[in-house]
Amino acid sequence: MLLEKMLQSQGFGSRKHCQQLIKNGAVSIQDEIIDHPKHKLDLNQLEFSVYGETYQYREKVYIALNKPKGYECSHQATHHFSVFDLFDDLLMNRGIQCVGRLDQDTTGLLLLTDDGQFLQALTHPKKHVAKVYQMETADPISDEQIQQLERGVELRNEKGIYAATDVKRLDEKRLQMTIHQGVYHQVKRMLAAVGNKVEKLHRAQIGQLSLNDLPEGEWIYLTEEQVAQAKYHEE
Ligand code: URA
Repeated sequence: MLLEKMLQSQGFGSRKHCQQLIKNGAVSIQDEIIDHPKHKLDLNQLEFSVYGETYQYREKVYIALNKPKGYECSHQATHHFSVFDLFDDLLMNRGIQCVGRLDQDTTGLLLLTDDGQFLQALTHPKKHVAKVYQMETADPISDEQIQQLERGVELRNEKGIYAATDVKRLDEKRLQMTIHQGVYHQVKRMLAAVGNKVEKLHRAQIGQLSLNDLPEGEWIYLTEEQVAQAKYHEE
């Protein structure tokens, strides 16, 4: 790939802007300044520097964010911050999007990517990737409520039955459960349907991928192995 095209693909701006960066001597590879925009590159394991900062070439980006409370998953957030405020211009220029949504008051694992196929694979209604949520409830959680959640509940304006698996009471008012669809406000509506109320909600896992000890508000690039873990679903 041509150097100017590679830079553009990594979010450094228009082709013209990238040509100018290169001609200005801002770009180096293995400590050697390359000032020819049409320089041909081998992309395999490529590292390059722009104004002394080093970057790794990534064909696509896969990001796991530990979403803080008070951030919306939309570009034009109205009453809160936008999760996109947490990312730099390079990633924004690449057009990263949220893989599904979390409510502004929900914390936890949110994936973002510029890979349309990955986004489709995780959000398509027919792909039942498991998502693990932990919550605090307004009222103590009864055995009957747990059974109802496992049997499934109806949700207004949605077709079918919404059931959770691996429903575990962690404490009197703390619950963990796994859901396999992703309709609007699903967890909160399921808890309301069994006569309780979610006070705090956190997503701990998608597929086999969990946050581990990533602090709130921080994000990481996923490795290939982690991307596969996120896509994992039982047939
Ligand atoms: N279910 C909800 O109700 N809210 C979320 O943010 C995610 C799942």
